[in-house]
Amino acid sequence: MQKTLVEKIKRNIYLLRLNDSEVKYFEGLWYIPEGITYNAYVATLPEGVVLFDGWKHVYSELYIETLRQVVDLSDIKHIVVHHMEPDHSGSLKLLLEKVENITVYGHSIANSLMQAFYGRTVKFKPVNDGEKLALGGGHALYFYHTPWLHWPDTIISYLDSEKVLFTCDVFGSYGIPSRVFYEDLPSDEKTVFKWFTQKYFANVIGHHVDWVPKNLDKISRLNLNIELIATGHGPLYREISYITNLYQELGAKQVSKNKTAVIYTSMYRFVEEAVEIAVDELKKQGIDPRIYKFTDTYRDHESDIIGDLFDAENIIIATSTYDADLYPIAKYIVELIKAKIPSNKKILVLTVHGWGPVAGKKLTESLAEKKFQVIGSMEIKGSPRREEAKIREVVNKLIRQ
Ligand SMILES: Cc1cc2nc3c(=O)[nH]c(=O)nc-3n(C[C@H](O)[C@H](O)[C@H](O)COP(=O)(O)O)c2cc1C
Ligand SMILES: [Fe+2]
Ligand SMILES: [Fe+2]
Repeated sequence: MQKTLVEKIKRNIYLLRLNDSEVKYFEGLWYIPEGITYNAYVATLPEGVVLFDGWKHVYSELYIETLRQVVDLSDIKHIVVHHMEPDHSGSLKLLLEKVENITVYGHSIANSLMQAFYGRTVKFKPVNDGEKLALGGGHALYFYHTPWLHWPDTIISYLDSEKVLFTCDVFGSYGIPSRVFYEDLPSDEKTVFKWFTQKYFANVIGHHVDWVPKNLDKISRLNLNIELIATGHGPLYREISYITNLYQELGAKQVSKNKTAVIYTSMYRFVEEAVEIAVDELKKQGIDPRIYKFTDTYRDHESDIIGDLFDAENIIIATSTYDADLYPIAKYIVELIKAKIPSNKKILVLTVHGWGPVAGKKLTESLAEKKFQVIGSMEIKGSPRREEAKIREVVNKLIRQ
């Protein structure tokens, strides 16, 4: 696949997109075989060239080379840093070393991060919420603070002459789209990108979900005449309501009725026996659950689990006692669940042990810390087959309550 894409997206604006299919674990954590794009933008305006963000640090040279395809580096007057996470700011270090007299605009926190990350004191103009930057010829850029989507420094900006809202991570998604604009994607790819957006949202923004409705309300009260949302990852949106509605739903922690997920670990397939009974009962009751597992031959991925659980109604967590504690992978997954997904879920805990049950109690206590509603917890000694009737009973309790 081609690594870079340069496209004129408005009269005076270019998209500079890096298709990163080499990244395997976004933030070193989230498995994304679908890859990701870093979208930077260049506006050529009477006052000079304005850049909006950059690419990940490893692509610094390529970023500058690509910039040279559309502008003379010496014409760059301003850089807007919407967010200092290095997937966007990394390549700016080299650019700021090469070109002098660029003014950087961003949140005051971004200024301190610029020095902390890159050891650079740059010509930095901290922007207030709602501040305007006149760019000549009737062009003006407005900055808005959108805290905790997903860092404290996160801002968005609006170029009123072109009716473009630059949003960086906000409305972003994993994946490398075959077209620049969401509206131009084939319909099956649209479906896939809806999932990539939810997965990205849950993984990256999920922890701060309560800030989503606050910031969305704030953007909508601005009454901007937005024609295009220019994101920092994935497709760009002309159909503004599609992506803002999707964010409304995710931000409201909307649950998909009856959506049920089963996550389990199993060393020697005892836990798996319990899961088989539970899944059989779910299917009998007309529910086809999503199943994620960690066994001696297979492992699912945290990125998918967190993405998929975000809007689930019911969750079954099945695992074992291990060294007088909760099985280590289950412990880790549960910590991620507590950190990233809303607690408006009903949960059933199924645990298996040999000689001294611990896992069920620990798991239930741990989930209660974040106010998840644990509907039932069963501690099973050895093979779960003997407990079949009881397992079926608690599964029914989970889906009916
Ligand atoms: C390394 C190891 C440590 C274990 N530690 C405990 C323990 O502390 N207490 C206990 O009751 N069972 C313990 N067990 C037994 C398992 O919990 C039990 O065999 C359970 O059925 C495992 O289910 P699974 O094979 O589906 O993962 C341990 C098993 C292993 C392999
Ligand atoms: Fe980010
Ligand atoms: Fe990002």
